[in-house]
Amino acid sequence: MSDDKAQQAAQIAAAIRQVLGDSLGYLYPAALRVAIRTGIPDHLAAGPLTTGQLAEATGLHAPFLYRVLRFLATRGVFREDDTGAFHLTPAAQVLRSDVPYSVRTTALLLTDEMYWKSAERLEDTVREGTTAFNKIFGAPLFDYLNTHEESARIFHTGIADLSTIEQGRVADSYAFPEEGTVVDVGGGPGGFLRTILTKNPGLRGVLYEQAQVLEQHILDAPEIAGRWETAEGDFFETTPTGGDLYLLKRVLHDWSDEDCLRILRACRKGMDAGAKLLIVDCVVPRGNDPDPGKLYDIAMMTIFDGMERTEAEFDRLLTATGFRLVRIVPTNGPVSIVEAMPV
Ligand SMILES: C[S@@+](CC[C@H](N)C(=O)[O-])C[C@H]1O[C@@H](n2cnc3c(N)ncnc32)[C@H](O)[C@@H]1O
Repeated sequence: MSDDKAQQAAQIAAAIRQVLGDSLGYLYPAALRVAIRTGIPDHLAAGPLTTGQLAEATGLHAPFLYRVLRFLATRGVFREDDTGAFHLTPAAQVLRSDVPYSVRTTALLLTDEMYWKSAERLEDTVREGTTAFNKIFGAPLFDYLNTHEESARIFHTGIADLSTIEQGRVADSYAFPEEGTVVDVGGGPGGFLRTILTKNPGLRGVLYEQAQVLEQHILDAPEIAGRWETAEGDFFETTPTGGDLYLLKRVLHDWSDEDCLRILRACRKGMDAGAKLLIVDCVVPRGNDPDPGKLYDIAMMTIFDGMERTEAEFDRLLTATGFRLVRIVPTNGPVSIVEAMPV
């Protein structure tokens, strides 16, 4: 075979390997979920164990567990040594339940049936231009969560734990004013607001959320005592007035352009001319390189009619709702801060 032909054959073989491997890619989150739900990372925290020992501790079938862990080790989650014992790796460490940087609950959310059942129907979603979630689960996600307590717990815990990890980095990336009032619109249980108020002792804060989320807020902390309040409401209709800085962190990506226009108009209505709006979301870059924003974008399409947006897409939404995009501040995580002001 000529060199050219050999090169072409090698390229085809590599392409086939890639496409078939990707076609079975769903087995990775399935296996990951087994390991997380059965607490394997926690069981390995004190040191390496064989799958026989792990099976005894978890009640799993030892030979099947071995095959799952061997597979996960190919992705850097766990490592098997020559004696057949499995060790924690950095990727397995972050799945422990007792470490401050744990993404255990977030991984459980992202592999929950809310995501995977919807992913199974992605073709319908792409055909119809609207998420199949509503048909599968009988209501849009946030309405569904209002009537399904366990799913709501999984969702809000997973998001809040992810937020805990990223909120310090985001808060450090922006020069907050020394005084004034920060309104966190759709701020979840308030972890981001709490971090901002802790880092900036001259600031006051308002956590604006739905009633059932406010019931579980985490703002009762001595270091921010007397500097916060909660406000219940619907961000499609109205937002608290008189704030100096309005935050929309990981909110707009949940919604279609039409819904975002309603949220931004409600923010604009509550804001004075000198106030600022900070949108914290992925900003999707151009080009073919992998980017977390491009991955999360598909997740948004799958369970909501949401999307991750490019700078031009944020600019269009802001311009249509009486704002101007001032600048984009990167953080050292997947999200950026889009700063805007009323025109
Ligand atoms: C993806 S979470 C983001 C939470 C938080 N900002 C963070 O970064 O962790 C979106 C939040 O929007 C809230 N939300 C959804 N619909 C809302 C509405 N109509 N009015 C107010 N908040 C709403 C949800 O309760 C949820 O906490």
